[in-house]
Amino acid sequence: MARSRRPLIAGNWKMNGLRADAMNLATGVAAGVKRAGWTDREVLVCPPATLVMAVSEAVKGSGVLVGGQNCHASVSGAHTGDISAEMLGDAGASHVIVGHSERRTDCGETDTDVRHKAEAAWRAGLLPIVCIGETLAERESGRTLAVLETQLKGSVPAGATAAKLVVAYEPVWAIGTGKTPSVAEVAAAHAHIRRVLTGLIPDAGALRLLYGGSVKGSNAGELLAAGDVDGALVGGASLKADEFLAIAKAA
Ligand code: 13P
Repeated sequence: MARSRRPLIAGNWKMNGLRADAMNLATGVAAGVKRAGWTDREVLVCPPATLVMAVSEAVKGSGVLVGGQNCHASVSGAHTGDISAEMLGDAGASHVIVGHSERRTDCGETDTDVRHKAEAAWRAGLLPIVCIGETLAERESGRTLAVLETQLKGSVPAGATAAKLVVAYEPVWAIGTGKTPSVAEVAAAHAHIRRVLTGLIPDAGALRLLYGGSVKGSNAGELLAAGDVDGALVGGASLKADEFLAIAKAA
């Protein structure tokens, strides 16, 4: 892992967590991060929107960052059930995940939607984490690198820089399945992503690329050591403080 890029370990809690359990998880992560006193890595938790404010309060002073899992592209208006990037910021978030494959699949989000959401994040002063990744069918038909390139070109807004964007590579078939690409496959995908980004942003060499998909304490060390991997976006394993902290430690 290149030392010039400070690793980011992000937990995506997805649609999990009622207040009591979430508070236990948040305070557990906060205590571990505070104890470790890391200055060479960042730890982020992305709770469901209902808990962003409470979790932000609970982790205050620990160094743990808080993010949303999605935002609407608009500031406000007639969008029943949606949440703006400004609202997430107001609730204590500094980051927001956009374009997660579950939203691309469940909600039909397109690359253009994702780009607009990333721009909304900037407007609200949040750091967007843009997710991309191929399906199993795309991988098996040899289209992985082409799919990643198309997603990047469609999802990364003009004006992006390394300081204003994080990209997460999450192969759809590796999410929640216990399966991961080999370290060599991860390194190849990340190298390709960085190559494509070089044509899109001025300082692609400094941009953080996270790997996501079945990351856990036991495989974090090797996945995070792969070339061009600057952190992890963790789903299931981020729901247990000890497991999540083990991944952060491995960074
Ligand atoms: P899992 O870690 O549960 O595979 O989920 C990964 C993910 O989708 C994170 O955004």
